[in-house]
Amino acid sequence: MNPENIHPINDRMLQRCDKEGMLGQKAYVFWFCGLSGSGKSTLAVNLERDLHNAGIHSVVLDGDNLRSSLCQDLAFSEEDRAENLRRASEVAKILLSNGLVVIGSFISPKKEFRDFTRSIVGAESFREVYVKAPFKTCQQRDVKGLYAKVQSGEIKNFTGSSSSFEEPINPWITIETESESPEESSKKLFERIIKEVRN
Ligand code: ADX
Repeated sequence: MNPENIHPINDRMLQRCDKEGMLGQKAYVFWFCGLSGSGKSTLAVNLERDLHNAGIHSVVLDGDNLRSSLCQDLAFSEEDRAENLRRASEVAKILLSNGLVVIGSFISPKKEFRDFTRSIVGAESFREVYVKAPFKTCQQRDVKGLYAKVQSGEIKNFTGSSSSFEEPINPWITIETESESPEESSKKLFERIIKEVRN
């Protein structure tokens, strides 16, 4: 494909500030990263509901959802995870430019991946949220039964065991789901985020 033959029309479309003005909110991407079972999806849907009740239009982009649709051709090698997150980040960017608050919920296991997402979305609009729980805790919770499958050798390249997870160095916020209830964590997140997104 010759890029010379491609002519994006972004400059002729309504701009992000137009959409933000109409919706009465500021668009951001809150990117939840952390181990499988750390609580990302639970906190993401709670936040979506709390923002909705406060009159803020948000969208959840969830790893498992995208992996059963847009990214269903991808597995869990490093290349596939990078591609998975590239696609998710480009979708997040489109939603952002339409004035929406994006809640991304992806393991995003490497600093390099998260930095790439930040660069696609734009650093000024990107907020890294570390949903933190020890591997052992996630293994004990085993909400989806995946940790048991890892133990029996059914799943390869699993984050936290046979595939590494690099902890965020300086996240915008860290939510410790081992020591807090989902309600406590959700309240903390909502209170921090609503201040950013309200116009
Ligand atoms: S990421 O690494 O590319 O960011 P993503 O968040 O999309 O991962 O998908 C992770 C989800 O896929 C997990 O929540 C889990 O349900 C499922 N999954 C299946 N196999 C694996 C695996 N090998 N490693 C991690 N998650 C897996």
